[in-house]
Amino acid sequence: MPEKALETVLHGFTILGLSFAGLATSSGTASAEDFEEFKARMKNAKLLAMERHLKALDDRYDMSDDPSKTVTMTHGKPIQEGVRVKLREVITWDELAAMSPEEIRKQDLFPKGFMPLPHPYPAEGGIVFSKTFVETVEEQQGRDLARIDVSYDIPERFQPEMPPPLFLKTRPDLGDVSRGRLITLSNYRELFEDIIDAEQLEGLRLLLTPFPQQQFNATDDRRTEDPSPGVACLDCHVNGHTGAAIQTTSSTRPREPRRRMDTPSLRGVDIQQLFGSEGNMKSIEERSEFELESAYFEGDAEAAKRKDAHIPGQAEEVRLMAEFQKLIDFPPAPKLDSSGKLDPQKNDDAARRGQELFFGKAGCATCHVPPNYTDNRTHDLDVQRFYRPGITTSQTSSANGPIKTPPLRGIKDSPPYLHDGRLLTLEDTIEFFNLVFALKLTKSEKKDLLAFLATL
Ligand code: HEC
Ligand code: HEC
Repeated sequence: MPEKALETVLHGFTILGLSFAGLATSSGTASAEDFEEFKARMKNAKLLAMERHLKALDDRYDMSDDPSKTVTMTHGKPIQEGVRVKLREVITWDELAAMSPEEIRKQDLFPKGFMPLPHPYPAEGGIVFSKTFVETVEEQQGRDLARIDVSYDIPERFQPEMPPPLFLKTRPDLGDVSRGRLITLSNYRELFEDIIDAEQLEGLRLLLTPFPQQQFNATDDRRTEDPSPGVACLDCHVNGHTGAAIQTTSSTRPREPRRRMDTPSLRGVDIQQLFGSEGNMKSIEERSEFELESAYFEGDAEAAKRKDAHIPGQAEEVRLMAEFQKLIDFPPAPKLDSSGKLDPQKNDDAARRGQELFFGKAGCATCHVPPNYTDNRTHDLDVQRFYRPGITTSQTSSANGPIKTPPLRGIKDSPPYLHDGRLLTLEDTIEFFNLVFALKLTKSEKKDLLAFLATL
């Protein structure tokens, strides 16, 4: 690497990513020695970049440990309590909610945590797995999913359970079919052979098989210590749910920062009609094929070829993958009846008041329609009317445009929230919608709404 590039490494990771990406492309496969040098530089740059990014996170959120004593995820991990997005100035949430979008924008009072959350390494982007997941996989499979140039940013307490339970639509009688284990190529037969058919089993095997990807591959243009077999679908959609791994959108405009995306759960994916947060795909099959052929290489067909992309054996592999995905169910919601609303027999006054608000004053149900709490449509929340576009933390806070309404069934199991994971708790989502839709909810109404969301 030329002297000048080294200097860029030391002065800013943003430029580094672009300069190295260019270098790697033009030189093809680097020699082993080049790669050793590259790794050392990346590790240095990583320290600087992460320090800067974690400081930006601290500006956005209160990330202290405050577990709920009453509400847990399906397997018992407590959810974190409280609004974690920090206010900009000495102002209360109610005072802020009383202001108009124009006033908030003019006085620069929109909380940073409500703006798009940048990738910890925006210039390079790509997949970053949580520390917990990397450690679990290392221990069970000896596969290394850590990157040399960037690490995961949001603390474990704001992530889903690891491993998360898996429920099948066809076998609700069995409860969690993963039996508390991380499903892998080594145990999937033992766990599933007797409960799903041969095609579904083959689909599951494909979902568990690592395929080469932009940062995880066997070439020297990778971001792992050792050559990597790649990533599997269920490395991100862990046990059919999510392990909170992030990736970036594939942007065709190189100067525009690629957007961060939090892995959505595949629970209940079969009830959806639009796939991907922008809602631009119409079937699980189409989305699955897109992941392998395009998303894995951020839309760069040349890189895909160079790094041995796995192009699925036409429709067949994708069809089998979809067969298994269609089985994945939402977790049980014992307080709901078959219409998806609270069972009147089950006593929970706060949740009942919350339900009334959800379907009434708060207007949530216009988009989050029971029984699965989605309308299967996209909406532009137009959040950028609250702030001046510009540099927020380390990335341009560009407009998000229309985003699909995500189903809210099992929602307490899948923090962080919104398509980029910018909100850490359910209370954050309530404050967010209270402000964005000017709902003027009182303190106790917010509490009741939270109690209702926890029953879903
Ligand atoms: C970063 C890890 C990652 C990997 C690996 C991955 N996905 Fe995804 N998946 C995502 C993200 C992020 C989205 C949301 C994309 C968006 O918002 O546009 C997504 C969306 C989806 C969706 C649509 C879900 C919805 O609610 O709209 C399906 C289906 C899906 N992935 C299947 C797969 C399959 C099949 C594979 C393997 C070929 C795979 N994914 C590999 C992260 C991943
Ligand atoms: C105009 C339609 C609309 C209304 C009304 C609405 N939402 Fe949403 N909701 C969305 C969309 C779209 C998203 C995804 C936004 C994103 O990811 O940027 C979302 C996301 C969410 C999420 C995060 C889901 C996830 O998987 O990350 C929660 C929680 C939520 N809404 C709760 C509510 C509550 C509570 C209300 C009422 C106070 C409400 N919503 C009102 C459209 C709506």
